[in-house]
Amino acid sequence: MKILIINGPNLNMLGIREPGIYGAKNYKALVKFIKDSCREFGVKGTVFQSNSQGKIVTKIQKAYKKYDAIVINPAAYTHTSVAILDALKAVSIPAAEVHLSDVNQREEFRKFSYAGMACEAHFIGQGFEGYRQAIKYFVEKK
Ligand code: DQA
Repeated sequence: MKILIINGPNLNMLGIREPGIYGAKNYKALVKFIKDSCREFGVKGTVFQSNSQGKIVTKIQKAYKKYDAIVINPAAYTHTSVAILDALKAVSIPAAEVHLSDVNQREEFRKFSYAGMACEAHFIGQGFEGYRQAIKYFVEKK
């Protein structure tokens, strides 16, 4: 099984950005955690991060017919991007949404997710573990 894991803007700043919300571990540690999770479940995972909405849209488009599932943390674009929602719908690849923090317990604007409308599963507020659960979800669903 091939899974594309996408991380949106500012997730590369993990460890520096708001550690009280996102934790003290850096992005490198997150990538290692995701790759270890892929290995645990026998998944071929590709991890991609971008601060640019267009690059995320292009990555999703290029995943067409190449990946079995997408795990996406669109970060701030979650709450603003119809383009990412449309890209996920366009490729029809089963997708799961991940958020490190519990977006439902924060500011009002974080409760709404465009990308989430194209996702069949949601792993919210579980920190790094959310990515592992999302990968496990697709493996067990297969
Ligand atoms: C986030 C939550 C978003 O609201 C925020 O903009 C992020 C990270 C999370 O993983 O908790 O950048 O997606």
